[in-house]
Amino acid sequence: MNDTIRKPRYAAITAVGAYAPEQIRSNSDLEKITETSDEWIVQRTGIKERRILEKGLATSDMIVKAIESMLKEYPKDLKQVDTLFVATSTPDMLMPSTANILAGKLGLEGVTAIDVNAACAGFLHVLDLGAAWIESGRAKNVLVIGADKISAYVNIMDRSTNILFGDGAGVVWLEASEEEGVMDSILKGNGNGVEYLNIEAGGSLYPFDEEMLNSNKRHIKQEGRVVFKQAIQSMSDSCLDVLKRNDKTIEDVNWLIPHQANKRIIDAVGESIGIDVKKTLVNIEKYGNTISATIPLCLFEYRDLIKKGDLLMFTAFGAGFSWGASLLKWSL
Ligand code: ACO
Repeated sequence: MNDTIRKPRYAAITAVGAYAPEQIRSNSDLEKITETSDEWIVQRTGIKERRILEKGLATSDMIVKAIESMLKEYPKDLKQVDTLFVATSTPDMLMPSTANILAGKLGLEGVTAIDVNAACAGFLHVLDLGAAWIESGRAKNVLVIGADKISAYVNIMDRSTNILFGDGAGVVWLEASEEEGVMDSILKGNGNGVEYLNIEAGGSLYPFDEEMLNSNKRHIKQEGRVVFKQAIQSMSDSCLDVLKRNDKTIEDVNWLIPHQANKRIIDAVGESIGIDVKKTLVNIEKYGNTISATIPLCLFEYRDLIKKGDLLMFTAFGAGFSWGASLLKWSL
């Protein structure tokens, strides 16, 4: 038998890493600049603090740190990596892609480097793409990354967003495996939510000019209540759908890692799909919503709790709207 032409059947996570900047923006910091309170923020969102990347550093700098943290714990040869998928809504620059900039910073010559923007659902999208590339034989070692420096777009004086968002990066190493790893994903988008959650400026519709720099278009804007309701419904539906089409029930799931946007959303999704609260992993209190990074950041934090063979479910919802759920067996 010729091993070289046999396509691998499964894509499995063989390492995980994450990074959050050191600088903390606490609720009491925000109390000093806008009319809010620690009590309101904790009660309405579950967030106590978030991390902020310093000026002069970019999304790719956080990714490099996340990869360093991964390699410290899981000694692997970075030169084996052939593909980089970066989920981000806050690229270093409009051009070239952050994945491409990252390849340079890592010294990876001639890798496939692709950015994906699916807002807060970005990590699910790149996880599925990475798995598909491995299953099809297109790639052998893929770094699947979720990272955002959303603080660059938060209006610090806007209490409807300054309480929610923080910076961070997370990475998983995906490679071919004989055992089941990433099993399935449901990924959806509809464009119905553009007006409710966006950053308008800087693209081709509203390029940067003097007027733009002085307008609110350069900041993240959100209609919290609309997004809130839609997020619960969409994440719950995709979790139940992905379980059903893989002949699994909620009892089969060992751990749910939901996008960390609001603790009340996480609780409502958990209740709606009927999962035991002890199985839902949450770290929103420390980081807030880090957009594409929430799921790998949470995965990294709880990696010692998760055992080989455990069934994991990820779910996320974000701008667009875009949303989905993934199912995977833990391989570490
Ligand atoms: N501090 C104190 N009071 C506040 C604050 C604040 N920061 N913000 C709003 N309030 C007040 C309001 O003025 C309002 O007062 P009123 O009743 O006198 O009018 C009251 O609190 C309730 O306001 P709501 O906007 O209804 O607050 P809500 O409970 O909806 O919480 C929040 C707002 C936290 C933004 C919530 O709606 C939310 O989390 N939404 C979804 C976030 C999300 O999932 N985003 C998706 C992913 S993000 C992405 O893709 C980029």
